[in-house]
Amino acid sequence: MDMEIKIEKLVFGGDGLGFVNGKAFFVEGALPGEKVLVRILIEKPNYAKASLLRVLEPSPHRIIPVCPYVERCGGCQYQHLPYPEELKWKEKQVLESFQQSLQFDLKLLSPIQCGKKEYGYRNSISLHRTTEKNNKPQRLSFIGRDNYSKVMIDHCMLAEDHLKEIFTAEHQLGRKEERRSFKLDEKNRIFTSDEERIYRIRAGNQSLWTSSIGFFQNNIPVTELIGKQLAAWVKAVKPTRFIDLYSGVGTFSLLSAATVPEIFCFEESVHSIGCARRNFKEANVPLTGVFTGKVEKTFPRFILSNQKPGTMIFMDPPRLGIASSLATLLSKEAVAENIVYLSCDLQILLRDLKHILTNNRYEIQAVVPFDMFPRTKHIEVLAHLQKKGGRHS
Ligand SMILES: C[S@@+](CC[C@H](N)C(=O)[O-])C[C@H]1O[C@@H](n2cnc3c(N)ncnc32)[C@H](O)[C@@H]1O
Repeated sequence: MDMEIKIEKLVFGGDGLGFVNGKAFFVEGALPGEKVLVRILIEKPNYAKASLLRVLEPSPHRIIPVCPYVERCGGCQYQHLPYPEELKWKEKQVLESFQQSLQFDLKLLSPIQCGKKEYGYRNSISLHRTTEKNNKPQRLSFIGRDNYSKVMIDHCMLAEDHLKEIFTAEHQLGRKEERRSFKLDEKNRIFTSDEERIYRIRAGNQSLWTSSIGFFQNNIPVTELIGKQLAAWVKAVKPTRFIDLYSGVGTFSLLSAATVPEIFCFEESVHSIGCARRNFKEANVPLTGVFTGKVEKTFPRFILSNQKPGTMIFMDPPRLGIASSLATLLSKEAVAENIVYLSCDLQILLRDLKHILTNNRYEIQAVVPFDMFPRTKHIEVLAHLQKKGGRHS
């Protein structure tokens, strides 16, 4: 069924939200203030998803996307909006999500921070196989907005310029290789995930070793902003011990906590841990302890027999968040005075914070959103929790 809707706001994910007879309608591509003609795609008792057929009254903010692939490629959600408006809406989404999920005081939210570039910021890109023929070189593609089709492109607006050759070149994939990642080093040379190589990336005043098959943040200027914020909290609370969970190559320990007397890294990738050891050594920062393996296994064993006043835990888990058993441990034991959680998934962050806060041992001190992935729906959020009755940052 087709119908007209007035759009009120942009919700997390980038859809426009409007109401008809009290029912919420989510419309991809529609902007606040617009009257749009939509067609219902999915209808549930209390909400519906609809596709945008026509903009009847456009928003004064509507712009033409710069990327010719935006309609088919699923990567960007905000190209039809000027960047400052995108930032404004992302900040609102963080605030509303925190208010809905936790008793959250608006004063605890800092303004969203962003880098200088809204395009050309990604230093790594993953592309997918396009043909089943294993033995022939092939061009690679993104997965489309429908989560299924392959979108072959000549360039991606989000990628750094030095990556542009990967989109038009043909690549020889291995038999079982479904996708390949391409990453830039500090000299703008390309490294790929088809074999393990280590290379350097510059972040802050560090030149860090990382692995072609391990993780590294893909927007360096914003990583540096996060590092500065974390360093400010470290300086304010003066921890005796910094525990870096999901440490990767030790990026945030080295950017923000190098002066803390004891630093421990927990990470499952042996490749990243190898690089972390090198990074600490070259930076001349003592690494007190390293635990390779799953955090949910190694960390509880360590912390329950090694409690220490003045502990600060920093955790930057993958998109799926932390294991429920780890959240339970943190909620029950108050094993640290300060916990800082960095997340690239707002809903997962809220799920985990809610869990950690259940036993009332911690309170939120501050929340800072970062626009790590401009023009896309994603928001990176840094949340600082402090043990109740502890020092304030
Ligand atoms: C989002 S990355 C963050 C890495 C690091 N903080 C950085 O900024 O480079 C998440 C890291 O967690 C690691 N990881 C994923 N699941 C894990 C687990 N269950 N236990 C330990 N490490 C894990 C990944 O290998 C990856 O290095």
